[in-house]
Amino acid sequence: MSDHYLPGLEHVIANETSISYLDVEKEEIVIRGYDLIELARHVTYLDCVGLLLEGALPSGQRLLEIESQIQSVYGLPSNVRAILHLMPDQADMMDVLRTGISALASFDEELDDRSPDANKRKAIRLLAKVPQIVAYGYRAITKQPLVEPDPALSYSANFLYMITGVIPTPIEEAIFDQSLIVYSEHELPNSSFTARVIASTQSDLYGALVGAVASLKGTLHGGANEAVMHMLLEAGSEDDLEVLIRSKLARKERIMGFGHRVYMRKPDPRALLMKEALAQLAVTCNQPELYDMCVRGEEIMRTEKGLHPNLDYYAAPVYYLLGIPIELFTPVFLASRTLGISAHVMEQHANNRLFRPRVRYTGARDLHPPLRRNSS
Ligand code: SDX
Repeated sequence: MSDHYLPGLEHVIANETSISYLDVEKEEIVIRGYDLIELARHVTYLDCVGLLLEGALPSGQRLLEIESQIQSVYGLPSNVRAILHLMPDQADMMDVLRTGISALASFDEELDDRSPDANKRKAIRLLAKVPQIVAYGYRAITKQPLVEPDPALSYSANFLYMITGVIPTPIEEAIFDQSLIVYSEHELPNSSFTARVIASTQSDLYGALVGAVASLKGTLHGGANEAVMHMLLEAGSEDDLEVLIRSKLARKERIMGFGHRVYMRKPDPRALLMKEALAQLAVTCNQPELYDMCVRGEEIMRTEKGLHPNLDYYAAPVYYLLGIPIELFTPVFLASRTLGISAHVMEQHANNRLFRPRVRYTGARDLHPPLRRNSS
């Protein structure tokens, strides 16, 4: 038995996979052989559904079939809607999402079927319904009228429409679709690893996704995008952001949206793409100062800590300008990543080995004398 212990499993290879790989040297995120950034520039999120769940970019005909399969299973069981309405007003939206997915599991007749075809059908149902749990859940606890999907809209346009109630412009739809692609899959982050660990016991896809929701909620992981936006709004200007960042660094606090376990001191290619998107939206929304503020923050962190922004740093202001409520930033991240997580669970179920690591024990041993009940 090997006895080397790497805290946080840093640098540990935990899986073999044909799904994705972060090639840090080449600064490329490989998704089944394609560069994720090239996918975001040239295809749609539904193309990536075909690539990740079926192993190849779909033909035109297959893409239409995927779109109609998803549209045909839009809608949430009335009991699930009722449960969303029962959530308290102050509920964290990731907890609402976790609850909604858990409730949904009981309505899926193929829940415990781990065959590739059944898992793929469940993944398609989740890709249709998770965005609705995000949008409905938020509108339910904020007492707003629910927005039903419009079959005339694309998958991404519908997701944004169900959240904001406003049909997105072509540029908003394109940028949101790009964001869903770059959030869709990223090798073995804590949340996907959590899903694979759960799936390795032969538990079901819904349960694995619920575990991933709980993981992604943490601010060291997906929760960072919401924390970034709160930091930008707290600062309010370029100069005040510099003061805020420097004061946080002086208190040894982490600046959300910077750093990455794998990229470490190299840039996150996804952040660069979302930075371009923010530049575009800052012009169309007439908010150039938001873009300038983010660039200033990036410059400070690079000079002070040698750290680069990760995807969350630029995705946050993009989502803000798209009109997405801040408390939905991480739920949107999870909705997009439902695709990658489903691919990981399918792969785990198809070629499984139960995850069961060991420990390096540092507690007491050989306690003497053995415990005796005292006579009193
Ligand atoms: C995501 O895994 C994935 O791929 C995740 C993700 C995905 O797509 O699924 O990419 C999404 O989760 C992106 C990360 C979002 N989280 C944040 O933005 C939170 C802020 N980031 C940090 O907490 C941190 O960078 C982590 C958690 C992302 C990575 O932490 P590590 O690898 O454990 O690094 P570390 O804590 O050991 O830090 C190494 C050094 C330390 O300095 P020293 O104490 O050695 O002097 O870098 C410093 C840290 O203090 N550091 C930071 C920092 N991140 C690291 N200092 C200030 N601000 C930061 N953000």
